[in-house]
Amino acid sequence: MEYRNLGNSGLKVGRLCLGTMTFGWGTPEAESRRLLDKFVDIGGNFIDTADIYADGESESIIGRWMKDRSRDKMVIATKVRFETDDHVNGAGLNRKHILTAVENSLRRLKTDHIDVYQVHCWDDGTPLEETLATLDRLVASGKVRYIGASNFLAWQLQKAVDLSGQLGVEKFICLQAMYNLLDRLLEWELIPVCENEDLGLLCWSPLGGGWLTGKFHRGMSKPPKNSRVNEAEKEGWSESWSNYNTEQTWQVLDTFLEIAREAGRTPSQVAINWLLNQSVVTCPIIGVRTFEQFEDNIKSIEWNLDQDHLDRLSSVSEPQTPRYPYGFIKRFKR
Ligand SMILES: NC(=O)c1ccc[n+]([C@@H]2O[C@H](COP(=O)([O-])OP(=O)(O)OC[C@H]3O[C@@H](n4cnc5c(N)ncnc54)[C@H](OP(=O)(O)O)[C@@H]3O)[C@@H](O)[C@H]2O)c1
Repeated sequence: MEYRNLGNSGLKVGRLCLGTMTFGWGTPEAESRRLLDKFVDIGGNFIDTADIYADGESESIIGRWMKDRSRDKMVIATKVRFETDDHVNGAGLNRKHILTAVENSLRRLKTDHIDVYQVHCWDDGTPLEETLATLDRLVASGKVRYIGASNFLAWQLQKAVDLSGQLGVEKFICLQAMYNLLDRLLEWELIPVCENEDLGLLCWSPLGGGWLTGKFHRGMSKPPKNSRVNEAEKEGWSESWSNYNTEQTWQVLDTFLEIAREAGRTPSQVAINWLLNQSVVTCPIIGVRTFEQFEDNIKSIEWNLDQDHLDRLSSVSEPQTPRYPYGFIKRFKR
């Protein structure tokens, strides 16, 4: 496994982060532990979870697993923001909720510190100063080593970075955002912020929730029954069939599947390898339901797409430039 610094920090993380959103939900504990063991065997050190995954069970599974392992070798990232308690302050990025949530995460993870504590989404209901000051206090107390953001708009991220500088408090070192061959819109705003501010980029849904795994191809009329995408339709999740069943998706998938055949690699390995080749990306966060899927996906670090394949993938998946302001500014860039 190759390691990289996470953003402008000294923290080194493996090029693949293990996502654990399915732990305790689609992936039972025994299978989750097998995944964690194998991940460490291949040199993985970076694990992503959140307090809301399986109502805390994902953190608990990691905590029980970590008890018999060397905690110090691992880089554990978790998140706070969404509702964990059924009262008015049971969610959000206010001081009261963050300070309660961090204690609950530490207890479930059976550890005295979180390596990367991420705010799961922007919170309109709390002054940013309050959130940043609270996170700063957590770093000073030793309960948290580094902080990160997830699901922010670009102006929100830039504002947070600037405000931390003005206040002299801890800065976010990374952004966790959805980025894959079917969703590249963050290249317009968020990626330039990451590049300018030297923030690490952690990509969630590197396989579009399943769309980039080879299960989907032109001519289908509905998703496979046992897939996440099928469930997404019922639950209203973003990777649903109705959100992605568009000509644009099928065009990307036509070329993508052709390239996987030419490269002699599985579609999942191609999709993850394309991300690994984007200079701004620190790591894709691989999320799986089964051990077999994990064994497939980790092979994405064993080889490299050739330049022709990279160019064709980047070209077919490139989002159209919106006329204004992007088209206008692009024209007069120099
Ligand atoms: N910050 C955030 O808001 C946020 C949001 C979402 C996720 N995340 C993080 O990102 C991680 C990954 O996200 P994700 O689960 O959406 O990633 P993803 O890789 O886009 O989708 C994973 C799903 O694709 C299918 N799959 C994966 N590998 C496969 C393979 N080799 N062959 C066939 N099917 C395969 C499985 O679903 P089925 O087999 O069930 O179809 C699996 O659950 C999560 O675990 C979490 O840590 C963060």
